[in-house]
Amino acid sequence: MPPLTTTAASAPVSFARPSIGAGEIAEVIDTLESGWLTTGPRVQAFERRFAEYVGAPHALAVSSCSAALHLSLLAAGAGPGDEVVTTPLTFCATANAVIHTGATPVFADIDPVTMNLDPAAAAAAVSPRTRVLLPVHFGGRPVDVPAFTALARDRGLLVVEDAAHAAEAVVAGRKIGTTADFTCFSFYATKNLTTGEGGMVTTASEEAATRMRVASLHGMSRDAWRRYEHGGPADYEVVMAGFKYNMMDLQAAIGLHQLARLDQMLARREQIWRQYDDGLADLPVTRPVPPDAGMVHARHLYTILVDRDVCGRSRDELRARLAAEGIGTAIHFTALHLQPFFRERFGLRRGQFPNAEFVSDRTLSLPLSASLADAEVARVIDAVREALR
Ligand SMILES: Cc1ncc(COP(=O)(O)O)c(C=O)c1O
Repeated sequence: MPPLTTTAASAPVSFARPSIGAGEIAEVIDTLESGWLTTGPRVQAFERRFAEYVGAPHALAVSSCSAALHLSLLAAGAGPGDEVVTTPLTFCATANAVIHTGATPVFADIDPVTMNLDPAAAAAAVSPRTRVLLPVHFGGRPVDVPAFTALARDRGLLVVEDAAHAAEAVVAGRKIGTTADFTCFSFYATKNLTTGEGGMVTTASEEAATRMRVASLHGMSRDAWRRYEHGGPADYEVVMAGFKYNMMDLQAAIGLHQLARLDQMLARREQIWRQYDDGLADLPVTRPVPPDAGMVHARHLYTILVDRDVCGRSRDELRARLAAEGIGTAIHFTALHLQPFFRERFGLRRGQFPNAEFVSDRTLSLPLSASLADAEVARVIDAVREALR
């Protein structure tokens, strides 16, 4: 293969540099000048437009996906004595949210090809105590939604989807955000759509949306903006011990413009994905499998599997080599049952979820962001090729 053109510069390539445009910056300044910083008209507009984007009846903007997961699981009725079936190949926030409701996370293995929760393994993990299925759209690839919907229907369960990686995803002709009882999105700094920190829950249930809104702001029956708006009632009632999970207008100011550019940014991520696919095709690493027909993959993580026996280098050696070149990478994820807290609290051990362990030991996510230049992508490809030569 001929050498790829690279930049002469060896400027660092960060793992997920946010793509922030002039629109986001101007809207933040307008928000600062408006005198209204916290939950207000921009949050309301962001919720409306996000609901339209995914086609969901209700959207609630919150401070993080972790908050979205907590509120959704509570609204789904998860609590002490209940079990929630989820994947071990996820960020700790997925399982932590279950624990914060008082319920117990029960892990089931992944499909080694898609890296998503395997519906058959999830079905085998369902017990009389199971209340919720909590699949994660890993790296932006939608899970087998029809299989989880059928399992939930057959066993009388609710589905909460962790769509932290998957705002743009579509499966079986349906947009993620409309396929579960509750869908939770993340707008953390590295995500395809960012507000710095932030999250969203979508649901078709008006009653659940109202309960989550109250729970997201101290359990007060009216939010601050309505309390202080002109001529509005100055009063509120505390109806539960709620949380401080509301989103600020300062965050929504960024989100409104990110959302408007989301599909354009996805198109750029798809281009970069193809560059990686082409540039790494002849290397002895496992690349992400293409999405199924009719699926929109949100292209959040380009993860390769690096097997020392096949590549001659371990994942960690490759990662160190790339870091020495100024190239940021990340590990998604160390399987949760291998983390000390989950191991000790739930008596878990290596060997229980072999597919998740296989990925966990070998996975490496390469830089991916709509703001990456072609030359930066070429530099990453060259560095990986050089390291594995
Ligand atoms: C799969 C998954 N779920 C949940 C979260 C939590 O998102 P947040 O940081 O918005 O709370 C993350 C964050 O990276 C994630 O990757």
